[in-house]
Amino acid sequence: MWQWTRAQKYIHAYGKPPVGHEGNIWQITYPQYSIFSLNMRRSQIYFTVIPAIVISNIAVQLVIQGLLTRSREEIDTDQHASRPEKGPPLPRVLCWLLTDPPDLDKRVIHVRDTWARRCDVTLFMSSMENKTFPTIGLRVPPGRGHIAKKAKAAWKYIYEHHLNDADFFIKADPDTYVIVENLKHYLTSRDPKRAEFYGHQFYPSDWEFNADTRIKKSLYMSGGPGLVLSREAVRLLVTKAINSDPKCLQDGEAEDMKTAKCLLSVGAEPVDTRDELGRERFMIFPPYVHLKGHYADWYKKGDAHGAVEGFECCSRYPISFHYIKPDVMYEIEYYVYRMDYKRINEEVD
Ligand SMILES: *[C@@H]1O[C@H](CO)[C@@H](O)[C@H](O)[C@H]1NC(C)=O
Repeated sequence: MWQWTRAQKYIHAYGKPPVGHEGNIWQITYPQYSIFSLNMRRSQIYFTVIPAIVISNIAVQLVIQGLLTRSREEIDTDQHASRPEKGPPLPRVLCWLLTDPPDLDKRVIHVRDTWARRCDVTLFMSSMENKTFPTIGLRVPPGRGHIAKKAKAAWKYIYEHHLNDADFFIKADPDTYVIVENLKHYLTSRDPKRAEFYGHQFYPSDWEFNADTRIKKSLYMSGGPGLVLSREAVRLLVTKAINSDPKCLQDGEAEDMKTAKCLLSVGAEPVDTRDELGRERFMIFPPYVHLKGHYADWYKKGDAHGAVEGFECCSRYPISFHYIKPDVMYEIEYYVYRMDYKRINEEVD
């Protein structure tokens, strides 16, 4: 630094650089930027610059990780699903119900007057036509004992008359309640051109006798909370199974297990429909049964995902509930579409 001090003093005293140093004026006036001083810093590079680069790299990685890994609260309070105008176009959904004439005014009318209004197409499949309700007559004997035959006729009817009216097709019962918006939002991430089926996954009742059946491929969707098929799954089910394999959907009960067998035989994929936090979207029971864990043994045994109880049972965006009595349809209608509460802060319980 002697050079800097002396040059400064000289310039201050004489108003010009020392004789013979005129060419080095820049170096004398600004020695901190001179090659000399850079040389001094080169040794410091290893102690300051390189660690700084390493630390800033780690910091950037942590920030990116933080952006990619969303916290539980962020996932839980994700309001995307309630802003349809910002998302991709919603798929069209056809809803169909299995019913019989005596059931129309008892139960099915309450489905018709609540959630079924929100489907793009709604079909009530009955053993007899009723033009005022209206229902479609499938010319299948009434009663639970012929439920498989009726489901078979219904899928065939849909394939022949409505395949291009929707992207996804849900079969529901007269005691199923479907939140159609949540179903549509869930299905925006699925491709109707892929042969897939969706619902609440169950082990077949014979899995105990054959451990090999406890694999993904053998799972079926329990019928109560609704069975959803992509358009391609409907096409394969009807053209490759129902129309060509007499063993597919043979008459009797357990139409859900039988439909799954036909679907699996033509290569359709059963999809795990739980949310990012592992909570079910299709519920076998009314909410309180899941929340309080009032589970029957058959549910504990058959549920493919451990029969979770308490608030972790069910997604924030549930798609359906089963065993819903007619009056309770209106109750859920109120909870979901009409009830709100005044938020005091943004925290979620
Ligand atoms: C047809 O449906 C209407 C409306 O639900 C019902 O009142 C009527 O009894 C039904 N008719 C028959 C023949 O089942």
